[in-house]
Amino acid sequence: MHIVHVVGARPNFMKAAPVLAALANAAGVQQTLVHTGQHYDANMSDVFFQQLEMPAPDLNLGVGSDSHAVQTAAIMAGFEPVVMDRRPDLVLVYGDVNSTMAAALVCSKLQIRVGHVEAGLRSHDRTMPEEINRLITDQLSDLLFTPSADADENLQREGIKPARIHLVGNVMIDTLVRLLPRCAERRSADLIGPYALVTLHRPSNVDDGPWLRALLLALADLSHDVDVVFPVHPRTRQRIADLGLQALSDGHLRLLDPKPYLDFLALQQGAAMVITDSGGIQEESTFLGIPCLTLRQNTERPVTVSLGTNVLIGRDIPRLQTEIRRILAGEIKKTSPIPLWDGHAAERIAQVVLGRE
Ligand code: UD1
Repeated sequence: MHIVHVVGARPNFMKAAPVLAALANAAGVQQTLVHTGQHYDANMSDVFFQQLEMPAPDLNLGVGSDSHAVQTAAIMAGFEPVVMDRRPDLVLVYGDVNSTMAAALVCSKLQIRVGHVEAGLRSHDRTMPEEINRLITDQLSDLLFTPSADADENLQREGIKPARIHLVGNVMIDTLVRLLPRCAERRSADLIGPYALVTLHRPSNVDDGPWLRALLLALADLSHDVDVVFPVHPRTRQRIADLGLQALSDGHLRLLDPKPYLDFLALQQGAAMVITDSGGIQEESTFLGIPCLTLRQNTERPVTVSLGTNVLIGRDIPRLQTEIRRILAGEIKKTSPIPLWDGHAAERIAQVVLGRE
């Protein structure tokens, strides 16, 4: 059986790594890893391959950044000949980035089977490009691997046959469980005392100048009480430069370059709270038991709110400040473990792919 895995952007890498590993030694399985090149900076891509101990991609399509239509089209045009040439038995796609949807669309037209890892998540907000990618990818997939029961319900509501849906758990947590023991050595010696860890990259937060300015000023304010550590995504760095706000960075509000996987995980594990608009970080902070304030109106990962540490803040700075004060006062949400977020999701995917389940 020939399986092609498609990755393209930073959050794909930690999801694909455990699935590649789970299938690596299966008899009769040949694997090809295709990187679309959606993310290309060394600190957004190469360093993740090293730290996650992933095989180097067999192919890099080198698509780079552009508008949604141009980037999606470039991925499709680059990936189609790969599929035509190699005729894999199955293509596995991950998460909700443009590379995920573009690869699924190519395969569906060539009648190649597609498996979607992290299927069924829905924010019900079609202004998010990721929601469009999720909807389309799921409609086109033959195997849908879901991280939580809410995802199964979403898929069934959209008319997807239950036989195609496999509740396997969260592959991102597989990677976290494997690599957490390696984080201790990555702790920053200069971070003494409590700190808040921040990430922001969604267009809804960073492409709106007045809102981004208000958020950064709120973070500067917070940095009078606790240090604020903010590894800045390239998209966000550009916007901060456009607004002329780099000067806010100082010893207490630290605007840093993006962090490699282990370094970021170590920062998360040691944080008093996480303030983010990322999807994956809502999940990781829940697993680690670190309070998470999400700067979004909605989440496609509702179990992180119902069972985990996540609180949705929306676009409300007074609410953000209230929740920060609560956490600093030690008022922490009660949480319960999420079923199947146990470090073995990729093994369950391998069983399904190999027809053993
Ligand atoms: C993409 C995903 C998003 C995911 C995020 C994680 C889509 C629609 N969005 O958003 O779901 O949460 O990745 O990071 O697929 N850039 C660089 N170097 C890089 C990559 C990007 O400088 O290696 C800059 C470019 O200016 C580019 C911008 O970041 O235009 C945005 O990159 P893009 O891949 O289009 O989207 P992300 O915001 O990273």
